Amino acid sequence: MLHIKSPEEIALLREPCAIVRDCLVFVGQRIGAGMTTREVDSLVYNFIKASGAEPSCLGYYGYPASACVSVNETVVHGIPGDRVLKEGDIVSVDLCAYKNGFHGDGARTFIIGRTTPENEKLVRVTEECFFKGIEDLRAGTPLMDIGYRVQKHAESNGFSVIRAYTGHGIGREMHEDPSVPNYGRRGTGIRLPAGAVICIEPMIAAGGWRVRVLDDGWTAVTLDGKCAAHYENTVVIREDGAEILTL
Ligand code: MF3
Ligand code: CO
Repeated sequence: MLHIKSPEEIALLREPCAIVRDCLVFVGQRIGAGMTTREVDSLVYNFIKASGAEPSCLGYYGYPASACVSVNETVVHGIPGDRVLKEGDIVSVDLCAYKNGFHGDGARTFIIGRTTPENEKLVRVTEECFFKGIEDLRAGTPLMDIGYRVQKHAESNGFSVIRAYTGHGIGREMHEDPSVPNYGRRGTGIRLPAGAVICIEPMIAAGGWRVRVLDDGWTAVTLDGKCAAHYENTVVIREDGAEILTL
């Protein structure tokens, strides 16, 4: 069931969303070659705690960290560990904060130093896919219009859309209805009501869209080993548009 948030509830969820935004900026200023993915996770844990919030991911279905740190061929849910970031890597950092009884959720893909033109394009197009996805988004928009726009932009740039993972509603739970695919047929799906709060998160691959999950039970990598990028914001649907809460 989709929970419509009241203006009072939206006021409460602004704070965890602002913490997610600020944490992503903070990580972006510090992430670099030579750092381990575990060190990235520590930055996130410490920032969220210092903000008076809780890292929602930590312990979620047994997830062992505060952030998902997904390098190159890792699409999402990369478990932080000993992997050392190096020049040319592209790194998705995905994190959630819980405060005031609500969750905020966002992700960015950072480029370590300089990378290849193809990786640069992948990261840029993935961000663009998010903004295409929210174009003309307002109360009454069919849900699948989001995925339709994301998919069109990704595929017209020669990339593919990950199918196995989707965006989602968010609120008192980190994952609520509806599921928000990054692909779909225009004009289909529920009409999003004002007060719906959803996470739109294009996951775009340079090669094929097929993924497999490593033996750790979380880390999702592309089957063909090519790079993938990820970009996510929490968005509230309004009568006259969509407001991004984590940017
Ligand atoms: N932030 C992720 C999302 O967009 C959730 C990560 S799964 C977790 O849905 F286990 F790490 F929490
Ligand atoms: Co999410």
